Amino acid sequence: MSEAVFSAMCSGETQYLAEAPASGSAEDAQLTLWALYEQHYRGFEDVAGELEWDPQLISVRRGLEQEFEATLRSRMPSVPDPEGFEETFFEFVAGHDGPSLAAHVHRKATEEQVRELLRHRTVYHLKEADHTTWVIPRLSDQVKAAVMELQFDEYGNGDPNRLHAHLFVRGLQDSGLNSEYGAYINEAPLEVLEENNAMSLFGLNRRLRAASLGFLAAFEATSSAPSRRMAQGLQRLGFPDSMIEYYTEHVEADAVHEQLAVRTICGALLEEEPALHDDIYLGAFSAMDLADRYAHRMLAQWAA
Ligand SMILES: [Fe+2]
Ligand SMILES: [Fe+2]
Repeated sequence: MSEAVFSAMCSGETQYLAEAPASGSAEDAQLTLWALYEQHYRGFEDVAGELEWDPQLISVRRGLEQEFEATLRSRMPSVPDPEGFEETFFEFVAGHDGPSLAAHVHRKATEEQVRELLRHRTVYHLKEADHTTWVIPRLSDQVKAAVMELQFDEYGNGDPNRLHAHLFVRGLQDSGLNSEYGAYINEAPLEVLEENNAMSLFGLNRRLRAASLGFLAAFEATSSAPSRRMAQGLQRLGFPDSMIEYYTEHVEADAVHEQLAVRTICGALLEEEPALHDDIYLGAFSAMDLADRYAHRMLAQWAA
């Protein structure tokens, strides 16, 4: 499928995609979906800009999205009661037990393993926070202002050198890694593609705005403490200060962001639209579950 879709994207001859090509594997489907979404972010040098809204490509994307959304929904455990949302949400996140890559990096990981992890993380961190930006025009004034407060921080408070994505660029460069956008996409395992595609799926579909904000809330609420362990692990291995700084920046920033995301964003959204309650948990659970799946893969691979 990716071969058929990529060649259609490069040649512009998308009419041959009228019959959606069958996907060869989960990786094949997710890589195709990633590339179709990527047209809405930075695009590709060898793909014409008009193809962003090409009906055949959008139709292939829709098919892949429907399948992926059904998969994400099928993985969901039961959703907690809507009563006392904020405390319940924090409990839901705290009660989620998954393997920790940050703990491994903190104490045991080799430099080679951490470099592999950083290469995989480029897929998200080089466009950090962008998926949440899609949601902004779809929100009420109150929720929008709160999302903007968080996003302004992610985007460096007006200073291009403080953008979180840019902090990661500097860390990569000083670590001797390629900081070019998309440079390591061919190395990304299925779980990384799924995580990135879930963010785009929730961000680009207005009806899934609550899932997008729930994803954000769980992501922020599981970031501060692991970021400290990442920073300590990078220090142990002698990584450059700029790479360490990316993570120390997130220790404090995300302790603030989690409160904003859970209370001022998701809490306020629910007061306006209580029917979106379960979708907040779809996003939150997906954020944690997809991180677990990636951690499982990497820890098993490294143990072997
Ligand atoms: Fe960030
Ligand atoms: Fe954050």
